[in-house]
Amino acid sequence: MSPILTVNPLHPQTELISRAARILQAGGLVAFPTETVYGLGANALDAAAVSKIFTVKERPATNPLIVHVHDAEAAQALVRVWPETARKLGQKLWPGPLTLVLPKQKEIPDKVTAGLDSVALRVPSHPVAQALLKISGLPVAAPSANRSSQLSPTTAQHVEKALGNQVELILDGGATNVGIESTVVDLTRERPLLLRPGVISLSELQAILGDIEIPEKPVHDREPRPSPGMMERHYAPRASLILFQAQDFEEIQEMVKRENLKGGKVGALLLTSLELPLQHPMVMPLEAASYARLLYAALHSLDDLGCTLILVERVPEEPRWAAIQDRLKRAAHPG
Ligand code: TXA
Ligand code: MG
Repeated sequence: MSPILTVNPLHPQTELISRAARILQAGGLVAFPTETVYGLGANALDAAAVSKIFTVKERPATNPLIVHVHDAEAAQALVRVWPETARKLGQKLWPGPLTLVLPKQKEIPDKVTAGLDSVALRVPSHPVAQALLKISGLPVAAPSANRSSQLSPTTAQHVEKALGNQVELILDGGATNVGIESTVVDLTRERPLLLRPGVISLSELQAILGDIEIPEKPVHDREPRPSPGMMERHYAPRASLILFQAQDFEEIQEMVKRENLKGGKVGALLLTSLELPLQHPMVMPLEAASYARLLYAALHSLDDLGCTLILVERVPEEPRWAAIQDRLKRAAHPG
């Protein structure tokens, strides 16, 4: 039986959310929509429940989880210090696609934070996530509801495809609006550090914080890794993904020919129209927020269509495309 339960995304029905809340309270797993991507949730204060997340996702125990809370006050209760930077960011950008890393209180199990002394906190804005946090009365640890290193889910169907029989319930609130994971900022140090770019832009963060450090690339070569989301291959489809520019046309044409001769199927995310013998070309919007909203859904559908190679036209080298550039780079095979 499908574990999917459809809820009204704008006005979630209390009785349906209560069902999900009871599962969380009993130590079970519930997948639910946030404004960014779907999360795989467990009671963040229950180490045994949190362990199930790692098992189901096949996630390395060294990769810490984000804890979702109902509001900034609930976030404050889970940390030892609440700096001015957190107060300002929380006030301006929560609820929303922003995660703050702060020194943790001891009631948060080490399992959640992978043994780190800090915890990542987020107040999601999606009404279903908000209702679930409010009705359950729990902080909810929730990574993206996909298998480790694969594509994040932006619909309940993506979750079902990846984890279907391993979650007790999937709350279906439709497609998510932001489409890529939250911006993560480390506030445990003197100078705030951007750990993961997202749709909250650097200039927005700079305007609020005054100063923020952006790790030089390639961050994933650095030890120890400040955030496992910085691991090189991540957010990846099953097919090989290659980034190209329209100028590389001849090279790409050869690549498509070779793939077709091998009996492979080639899909593409394009910004311009190119005369190539592609089985599954998809035209993407030339606007960053819309591109982000559609990116994972497009890659999921190319995977479902059996593409063996996905060609992705490089997006503009502009600040508002930074998070998309980051995800595409990680999804691409090195080289
Ligand atoms: O938009 C999102 O953030 C989604 C939704 C479900 O909220 N969640 C998500 O979770 O993307 P996940 O587990 O896929 O990514 C969590 C990121 C990882 O890069 C992880 O390394 C980082 O947050 N993180 C968590 N705790 C941390 C900590 N204490 N210090 C540094 N990085 C941390
Ligand atoms: Mg993830």
